[in-house]
Amino acid sequence: PKVFYTLPDGTERVVAAEPGDSVMRTAIRNGVTGILGQCGGELSCATCHVFVDERHAGEFPPVSEDEDDMLDVAATDREDTSRLSCRLVLAAGQEVHVTVPEAQL
Ligand code: FES
Repeated sequence: PKVFYTLPDGTERVVAAEPGDSVMRTAIRNGVTGILGQCGGELSCATCHVFVDERHAGEFPPVSEDEDDMLDVAATDREDTSRLSCRLVLAAGQEVHVTVPEAQL
């Protein structure tokens, strides 16, 4: 899989990912700035907030109640496309475009 991260300054990072890794873990592994993942993917920090490109709507499981609660307290206001990127697990061959919000803390 491959992840295209659009950073707050408008630049793009394209990163090859491992199947089974999340969009959060892929960012951390590759030094993509702006995704912190402070809780390590336990759904308790909201510092892995991203906006998922609308073309990928439906490619991931829907937002759970716990994820929804955490998105409410994300540092950057949530939008319809908001997800916690530790919930976005990548499958082989998948290509995903996400935008990193201005702030995670
Ligand atoms: Fe903490 Fe995703 S890494 S909620």
